[in-house]
Amino acid sequence: MIKLTLVVAVAKNGVIGRDGALPWRLSSDLKRFKAATMGKPVLMGRKTWESLPKRPLPGRANLVLTRDASFVAEGARVFSSLDAMLAAGRAIAQASGADEVCVIGGAQVYEATLPLADRIVLTEVNLEPEGNARLDLDLSRWRDVSREAVARGPNDEADFLVRVLERGLLPREGEKVSAKLADEGAR
Ligand SMILES: NC(=O)c1ccc[n+]([C@@H]2O[C@H](COP(=O)([O-])OP(=O)(O)OC[C@H]3O[C@@H](n4cnc5c(N)ncnc54)[C@H](OP(=O)(O)O)[C@@H]3O)[C@@H](O)[C@H]2O)c1
Repeated sequence: MIKLTLVVAVAKNGVIGRDGALPWRLSSDLKRFKAATMGKPVLMGRKTWESLPKRPLPGRANLVLTRDASFVAEGARVFSSLDAMLAAGRAIAQASGADEVCVIGGAQVYEATLPLADRIVLTEVNLEPEGNARLDLDLSRWRDVSREAVARGPNDEADFLVRVLERGLLPREGEKVSAKLADEGAR
């Protein structure tokens, strides 16, 4: 089965983006992002596509979601429906021998795909930056497969924790089931 994996970095206050860009400089996490997604289809919203410093992301099939029928993304495939993008991502993964499809943002697309996801590669960034793209992940039905604390490197603004989560069977006692997205700027 081809897994659907969300690859996301979230600050302590739920912020994931500011004014169409990442609200931090974390070179070590970008290297991890590259390693986690290389060779796999990467699925993203139009705003995330436009935020990429280098487009398309090399070595990966880039799939972009937009409601704009005339949108052109050079080097990427454009979709107007999430289901169509997911189906294409799975077909590309299957054809290329990849074992997963990666959702790489932003907040709108994470929120839409979280209910369908099998796995989350989550970087918890030890910062509380200002930002207008937020993701409040409900992890009550998820279990850690691994956790790795990463110390701040010379090109990092903060230290961070990398968690790999898969769906668990039972929620922990006291955990709430609620998913919330507050993204003033993106709608
Ligand atoms: N921290 C992280 O890990 C991370 C990762 C990625 C991005 N980010 C940050 O997140 C921010 C961008 O996130 P965002 O939520 O504003 O935007 P986004 O999810 O990247 O893109 C939103 C756009 O996707 C399209 N879209 C969304 N749902 C759709 C649907 N159901 N059908 C068709 N099209 C749909 C729309 O494009 P149109 O408007 O063209 O119709 C919408 O405006 C940036 O600041 C970026 O740097 C952070």
